[in-house]
Amino acid sequence: MCGIIGITSNKTVSAAIINSLKKLEYRGYDSAGVATIYDGVIKEVKSEGRVENLEQNSLIKSLEGTVGIGHVRWATHGVPNSINAHPHSSSNVSVVHNGIIENSTILKKFLEGKGHVFKSQTDTEVIVHLISEHLKTKNILNSITTALKQLHGSYALGILFKDEPDLIIGARRGSPLAVGYGPNENYLGSDSYALKSMTNKITYLEDGEFCFIKKDQVSFYNEKGIKINKKVLELSSNQANYEKGDFKHFMAKEIEEQPVTISNGIKEYVDQLNNEINIYNFPWSIDDLNSIKLIGCGTAYHSCLMAKYWFEELTSLDVSIDIASEFRYRKNKFKKDCLYIFVSQSGETADTYAALDLCKQNKMKTCAVVNSVESSIARDSNFVLPIHCGPEIGVASTKAFLGQILILYILTLKFGYVKKDLSKKIYQNKIKDLKKLPKLIEKTLLMDNKIQNIVSDLNEAKGSMFLGRGFSYPIALEGALKLKELSYIHAEGYPAGEMKHGPLALIEEGMPVIVLAPRDSYYKKTISNMQEVIARGAKVLLITNKSKDEILSENLWETLEVETTNDDLLPFLITIPLQKLAYYSALQKGFDIDKPRNLAKSVTVE
Ligand code: M6R
Repeated sequence: MCGIIGITSNKTVSAAIINSLKKLEYRGYDSAGVATIYDGVIKEVKSEGRVENLEQNSLIKSLEGTVGIGHVRWATHGVPNSINAHPHSSSNVSVVHNGIIENSTILKKFLEGKGHVFKSQTDTEVIVHLISEHLKTKNILNSITTALKQLHGSYALGILFKDEPDLIIGARRGSPLAVGYGPNENYLGSDSYALKSMTNKITYLEDGEFCFIKKDQVSFYNEKGIKINKKVLELSSNQANYEKGDFKHFMAKEIEEQPVTISNGIKEYVDQLNNEINIYNFPWSIDDLNSIKLIGCGTAYHSCLMAKYWFEELTSLDVSIDIASEFRYRKNKFKKDCLYIFVSQSGETADTYAALDLCKQNKMKTCAVVNSVESSIARDSNFVLPIHCGPEIGVASTKAFLGQILILYILTLKFGYVKKDLSKKIYQNKIKDLKKLPKLIEKTLLMDNKIQNIVSDLNEAKGSMFLGRGFSYPIALEGALKLKELSYIHAEGYPAGEMKHGPLALIEEGMPVIVLAPRDSYYKKTISNMQEVIARGAKVLLITNKSKDEILSENLWETLEVETTNDDLLPFLITIPLQKLAYYSALQKGFDIDKPRNLAKSVTVE
């Protein structure tokens, strides 16, 4: 959550900081700010709302200085306004911060007692005054080491000092932070994406570490303040992935990219000639694994649920799933013969990372299914399965969801085959079907007109329900999540067979209910549940797959038919109309599709 950028250079930095903040907006967008040092004075400019507002702020043009820090905020402590926007500054220190300082109230009282005056409601401002307090008696290095020890909670920090017009200090605990290297300038960023337009040479800080960045030199320290050496990594870069191209929104682009991203994922793991799955360097014997635990948040959790259905159907493994924020605080029974799989697009989600950390502390086998291979979750897991989707910028996850379930399906087939739960023939037939999936996704994408016609009715509704059974149930949850986060329409995903145990009471005349009933082994059962909601006045949009058989129902509001494939793969296809439904619904309402209210792409606070 929140985005940080810092630049120290031999030229004025405010415009470059604003440009990078625009790229970071997906991490938070309720306020933005920049601070620089010029003529021995810290100057800051802050605005409520988008970076656009900051850019149009008349003060920004006069913000000179060759060293500066900038921030986009996703509010935790204090309402989103320009006073609470970062940077926060005293006369000699300025700070940008991602994370939460849990002991800020105690520290604030202590600092007020020493005469410090606070302007904002944020936890971040205590960091500014704490460092200023230490600077009264210590040098910069000792002030930082002492202050960091006093902070409880999580942080990624960028810090400027009035008397050091070439210095930015970066510090990390629990929130990611990267250093970038350029010609005659160096950078600090809350992720490599912010730095990518300036450099592909990056060093990631680990928890407890901090760094001194000057325009021609960077030094790293551990938490004791002892100098350490760190590696410089070279990132691969494909700038086109970071642009919208001809699309109106990143989300639209990312939905349409799915045939390609799924095809890339298949090419990466499937030997096309021999119909075999290759998972190179898997560090354990699959035969020795008896159970699997999948952990994630939001959409990634829905991927875990999808995988549970596949693993149970196609392997003898015992499978359980967990929401990361629940798992991390429960008394878990850790098992040596279990593989713990962490699913995350960003690889930086705080709760998922904490769950991974807990498993590491208990010496469990950990595997990450991530999009960002340079992320903390990827770096700290024993084994990584990248989903190869390319950057996902829209806050609502689309191509990463299909990418995650693709890799989890591939893993299911491999485990099922190695453990002899699947015969060679079934295994290879399923691989052959999988290879056809990109083409089927491509065809299924062609239903925009029909969906555009439905959304006006949907948009008038107070609430909606998404129903599915078996393999379609995780997709019902995902469809409901997409609609609520983009269109702000209450949407509940439910197992179709569970309606009669309570939620049926919600159905009233004209309520939109989206029923996922592909013609798989659950089809007839789901159709019966659908009749029950139609009988109570619901307006049903049926999503099924093409078939020569007639649909077993009348009185439908609308029907959308996806392409046809085997039962395992239908979840990929029925996801597509749900993504488009949410997209067009939000588009018609005029909402900010790539940056829905109150949300951020990378949730680095718990
Ligand atoms: O980066 P992650 O996959 O770990 O993110 C997890 C969730 O925050 C994320 O999937 C969220 O639910 C999306 N906005 C859903 O579209």
